[in-house]
Amino acid sequence: MDAVSILKKIDKKLMASIRRNKGAIPAVTLNGHYDNRADSNKEFGVDDGLCWWTNGFWGGIANLMYFWTGNPVYMDVVKEDEELLDRCYTPSLFPGLHHDTGFMWLPLSVARYMQDKNEESKNRGLMAATVLAGRFNPEGFIRAWNDNNGNKRLGWSIIDSMMNISLLYWATAVTADPRFAKIATIHASTTMKNAVREDGSVRHITEYDPQTGKYVCEHGGQGYAEGSAWTRGQSWGIYGFLNAYKHTGKKEFLDTSEKIAEFAISHIPGSYHIPVDYLQPEEPAIEDSTAAAITASALIDLAKETGKKKYMEVAVRLLEVLDEDRSDYSADTDGILLKCTGSYHGTWDREIGFVYADYYYIEALLKLENKCLMIW
Ligand code: GLY
Repeated sequence: MDAVSILKKIDKKLMASIRRNKGAIPAVTLNGHYDNRADSNKEFGVDDGLCWWTNGFWGGIANLMYFWTGNPVYMDVVKEDEELLDRCYTPSLFPGLHHDTGFMWLPLSVARYMQDKNEESKNRGLMAATVLAGRFNPEGFIRAWNDNNGNKRLGWSIIDSMMNISLLYWATAVTADPRFAKIATIHASTTMKNAVREDGSVRHITEYDPQTGKYVCEHGGQGYAEGSAWTRGQSWGIYGFLNAYKHTGKKEFLDTSEKIAEFAISHIPGSYHIPVDYLQPEEPAIEDSTAAAITASALIDLAKETGKKKYMEVAVRLLEVLDEDRSDYSADTDGILLKCTGSYHGTWDREIGFVYADYYYIEALLKLENKCLMIW
């Protein structure tokens, strides 16, 4: 596929979107327009959406595109977003932070630091890593979320965390302090044992006893039901365990990434339009293009790591189908990928646009060109 010509269309579209959305941190696309979902963090009792888990991806897209084009307009977006997100560390907003500080500051500040060695960006990454490490329960897992309407969720851990822990490996690399990486590896081992089923499908939410660390049960989370296979969770698992392998050299993490990949590949429909859950009923046929983009990006790396061509073939087919059927390159509208879904049972977040879907789509296309900033 011609990734460069797609990226050129994306570059043109993003320039128009940046002009239209100055000072905003888009989260979703509704009817062709970005929306920052300012009410999205109310569940944590924080009347402000600034700590929303996807808020690093707009700057993240800008970092990827700056790395590829060198256009300073992109770096201005990164700098603006970093300054806006600094307010998450004020006493009123801090309770809205969660384990997704990796998703927030890796694509934003760590990616900038990799490019310009800005010290404040490095420190932003380290603050985020410190918050994430502070959520570690010494019984062996990282607590995902905070209290929600009386449900303390003290022992809840989710598969998405496997992406966040790359921030901890980075923090050890820049400080030489092994604590961050040790937490990451203990958490990855616990998640491997408890969140990945024998057949390679993945639980979204794994609950542990917060006093003993003993596995309690799973919760269906954003997938169809308990026992099912949320497609985005599968993609976080493939990608996250592969990253953990790259950071530690532990072969069991690579094997786990492949096991999850095999389950996903064997359940991808012939259309390559990815459902929200690999085990959802045929109707309604709700899709999630984010899962397609993340899976593609992860499989490109897995192909490089294992030398197995089939992973690259599936990745390229997923990207071709996104390009042909599920993308909008018009400069008159915001958002690239169509039909992204937050959760199977959600209402407002069905088959819309998500800024992080576009991030992983761009990341995968840049990987095909060997021009990608590798941050995870
Ligand atoms: N990290 C939350 C999600 O994938 O929706």
